[in-house]
Amino acid sequence: MDFLQTVRGMRDLLPDEARVLRFIEKKARHIAELYGYEEVITPVIEHYELLAAKIGEENRKRMYVFEDLGGRKVALRPEFTASIARLVATKMASSPKPIRLFSIGSLYRYDEPQLGRYREFWQANYELIGSNKPEADAEVISLTVDFLNCVGVRNHTLKINHIGILRGILEREGVSEDGQNALMQRLDKKDLSGAMIIAEEHGVSKGGLETLKDLFSIRGNDREEVTRRIGETLKDYPEAKEALRNLDEIIDLVRDGGVDAKFYFEASFARGLEYYTGIIFEVYVPELDIAVGGGGRYDNLIGIFGGGDVPAVGVALGVDRLMLAMKRQGVDAPKEQRIKALIIPVNEENISNAFKISVMLRRYNIPAEVEVMRRGLSRALSDASRRNITHVIIVGSKEISEGKVVLKNMERGIQEAIKIEDLPNKIGS
Ligand code: HAM
Repeated sequence: MDFLQTVRGMRDLLPDEARVLRFIEKKARHIAELYGYEEVITPVIEHYELLAAKIGEENRKRMYVFEDLGGRKVALRPEFTASIARLVATKMASSPKPIRLFSIGSLYRYDEPQLGRYREFWQANYELIGSNKPEADAEVISLTVDFLNCVGVRNHTLKINHIGILRGILEREGVSEDGQNALMQRLDKKDLSGAMIIAEEHGVSKGGLETLKDLFSIRGNDREEVTRRIGETLKDYPEAKEALRNLDEIIDLVRDGGVDAKFYFEASFARGLEYYTGIIFEVYVPELDIAVGGGGRYDNLIGIFGGGDVPAVGVALGVDRLMLAMKRQGVDAPKEQRIKALIIPVNEENISNAFKISVMLRRYNIPAEVEVMRRGLSRALSDASRRNITHVIIVGSKEISEGKVVLKNMERGIQEAIKIEDLPNKIGS
């Protein structure tokens, strides 16, 4: 009976997990509001070509692709960015810029399942569209940090780089876009020697290879030192130098703005997605060796979809990995509303009275539940105390004949007979 197991890579989220996921979702919406990002809801299924355009070779291979009954080649979305770029290139083409868009939902990648890597996972995604200015990049970084703090995840680090540095060098060296992308894919896999081989194969000069080698060895937390060392390697590459200046400007804004971001600079850091043109970053916490979020600037994607020259920058936080980070750091989501009143009919004659009282209490917004298992009073009471129910209403014939019930306050351990119409006041306060 294999069909009783979830499909490999798919998970059920049981109440405690679903509660944490919805908590993160709530915080994601709060951040969207705080920063002025409006929600859009795009379909899970899109044309394969749209999703595959700039997703990168590795991610492309992992897409769920199929032909629908109408013979269309479609895929389950592996990310939001392509769908958002489509929207901006079409239905929202005439919307005034900037456009700030937020999305949350499930995504699909045929990744090898392991801790924190699933085939169905969730992202909270934010895109800021229309500005190529550093303050837009700084906003997305600030938003990312606020989000992490807001869900209670601590000790986060942003691994950061500017893809324009590498592209600036490779462009000068005459490496084709395909060659550049192939090299980035190697870097994304941390295969530095593989990247060097590709550079050589694509005719990078001896000096160019030296520069790349030097560049790839630069990493660290010390911003001044890292940027100085990167700067030194870029003497002959003005476009790459310009990219470094851009990175510097963004970091200055973030720092001067008082954003509580801890950066780790890594000059060999590239991302698997191919649309990035500017800063790129990933979010890490010490408890996990996989990123809990990632983003960057992509100034050409909307243009590729026919939307003209519209720059953009964005980030996606991995909700499932945030859940793991919270768990590892001992952060729990608050229990929102718990059942306040359990109504126990002491005998069968009072089942309908108990039911009626539950309907009435819910009208007053008091979470209420009837004992539906027909357990005896003492078993029902011990169940109520195990579940931290605050009030038990015992419905017996004698009290009912006087229009009353027995209300037991479980926290204080006291009980009294009170009029049914007084229940909402007594429990609600
Ligand atoms: P990404 O780095 O591919 O970026 O994904 C962002 C986050 O989604 C990752 O850091 C991770 O937390 C989560 N994630 C990715 N794959 C999985 C998986 N198999 N299981 C669990 N979580 C996963 C993007 O998707 C870009 N669209 C982000 C972006 C928005 N760039 C600009 N705008």
